[in-house]
Amino acid sequence: MAELITPVLPDDLRRRLVEAAVAARQRAYSPYSGYAVGAALLTAPGTLYTGCNIEIASYGATVCAERTAVFKAVSEGESDFRAIAVATSNGAAPCGICRQVLFEFAPSLIVIVANAQGEVLWEGTLSDLLPLGFGPQKLAEGQRAGS
Ligand code: THU
Repeated sequence: MAELITPVLPDDLRRRLVEAAVAARQRAYSPYSGYAVGAALLTAPGTLYTGCNIEIASYGATVCAERTAVFKAVSEGESDFRAIAVATSNGAAPCGICRQVLFEFAPSLIVIVANAQGEVLWEGTLSDLLPLGFGPQKLAEGQRAGS
């Protein structure tokens, strides 16, 4: 019987990701909420894309840190993701919209939740955060099954 293997990040890589997320948080543009978020996204080939939240006076145009990192990576031709670290003042996990965006590309992504001091408060997979997520595979299956 096939063994279930939980993906685990080596300690040095985890540390590098968390430090990059904490540093990216310093670049947050969050004049309206005052809530700064940083993210660091690791691709399978080993590139690191960072992101911060960018708030807009017309609030709905605001982009979260995680999505900034994802969009930077995808626009550079990279969409094979391995892990993401997110840093906030209080160690919050990614919002629902970001979970959905991450699920599009990497349902088994490792997610590391840290605070602004770089302490890791939670680590798991995206599927833990978004069980039964709807992604490209479900859409294709549904289309094959007919309307
Ligand atoms: N925010 C993120 O950057 N990521 C999340 O996952 C949660 C929320 C940002 C959006 C907004 O700029 C601020 O935090 C408050 O919601």
